[in-house]
Amino acid sequence: MLILASHKIILGVTGGIAAYKAAELTRLLIKNDFDVQVVMTESASHFITPLTFQALSGKEVLTSLWKSNASNGMSHIELSRNYDLIVIAPASANFLAKLTHGFADDLLSSLCLARSCPIALAPAMNVHMWTNTATQRNVYQLKNDGVLFFGPDSGDQACGDVGFGRMMDAEELFRSIQNHLTPKLLKNKRLLITSGGTIEMIDDVRGITNLSSGNMGAAIANTAESMGASVTLISSTQQVFSENINVIHASNAHSMHQAVLKHINNQDIFISVAAVSDYKPKEIFKGKLKKDNSDITLQLTPTIDILKEIGLSKNKIFKVGFAAESENLIENAQKKLKEKNLDLIVANLIHESMGLEDTKISIIDQNNVVEIAKSNKIVAAKAILKEIAHRIHSDK
Ligand SMILES: Cc1cc2nc3c(=O)[nH]c(=O)nc-3n(C[C@H](O)[C@H](O)[C@H](O)COP(=O)(O)O)c2cc1C
Repeated sequence: MLILASHKIILGVTGGIAAYKAAELTRLLIKNDFDVQVVMTESASHFITPLTFQALSGKEVLTSLWKSNASNGMSHIELSRNYDLIVIAPASANFLAKLTHGFADDLLSSLCLARSCPIALAPAMNVHMWTNTATQRNVYQLKNDGVLFFGPDSGDQACGDVGFGRMMDAEELFRSIQNHLTPKLLKNKRLLITSGGTIEMIDDVRGITNLSSGNMGAAIANTAESMGASVTLISSTQQVFSENINVIHASNAHSMHQAVLKHINNQDIFISVAAVSDYKPKEIFKGKLKKDNSDITLQLTPTIDILKEIGLSKNKIFKVGFAAESENLIENAQKKLKEKNLDLIVANLIHESMGLEDTKISIIDQNNVVEIAKSNKIVAAKAILKEIAHRIHSDK
């Protein structure tokens, strides 16, 4: 069973109104299996309590240079040693100035000066503080020193002003962090993904659908994009997709099939995550079917098997399917892999994945079965895409 290593982040929180967004960021990082150590400045604790972050991160929040957890009493030097990234969110104007000049008068500034990993800042301040020459001079210097910047965004501010200085939203910040830490294993690769459950209309207001949430497809699309791929996503659901993804809406088997045919050429990888209906009503009733207390019969006809059609085509694309099964998981998935001529199939039990936040998958090819421990769908997406990248690169 493969258990995937998680990224380790120090989240520095400084004194600003946007400190509340750091709580949501912590929740997102933890949900996605990041190991998070929160360090707060004294000012930050006037805006939000350390207890909030302790509850969200499951770890004691560090606030003082003089209360060290390290055996030699030197947390400020030891802390960043085993971490992948320090993220300061929100980063106050004051903290930017301190970092520029190498001040080390509290735990957070000291550990930043002694850091042995990259650092990223998510500035948050009033537009006039942000555009002030002193702040801009500091930003210029910090960028030259190799410090990463996530944002700031422009928009309405807590003080009533409008302009640059707003901290990125937690979701967007999370994606930037994930993007930065993700190796570009799919650089220059083009991916076509289908996602979500389809709905086959019975009349103008009712339809046959299934429990697929589209979460797995969204996780794969967003993760592939952060791995450097150029992604086209044909989806029946509306989710938070990275803005670089080309999203095409398709709600039923027919429109999904048409969209796949339109976009399949010149792709390197096709991943069929969508739960496409196997049957559709033979005829769609006009308007709304009226109830009259007698039985009615709905005649169903099979829909086209999009994955099989692509699998059996001469297209040299790397083909990946999903098998959602209620029993005999591995045998049924292996059968589907052969029948549909796929390179890889991801198998999951319906009650362990469909419509849920977590999933437990097995990644299967002609020779091997790799089992992934129960995890969040983003973690599972990473595992699937790594397996694909590994095979594509070793084919050359
Ligand atoms: C109500 C209030 C809101 C503040 N909001 C911000 C802010 O959004 N951004 C900022 O840079 N400073 C803001 N400040 C000022 C900082 O809290 C102040 O510069 C503080 O010294 C920062 O300390 P730190 O960088 O050690 O966290 C605010 C101050 C107050 C009283």
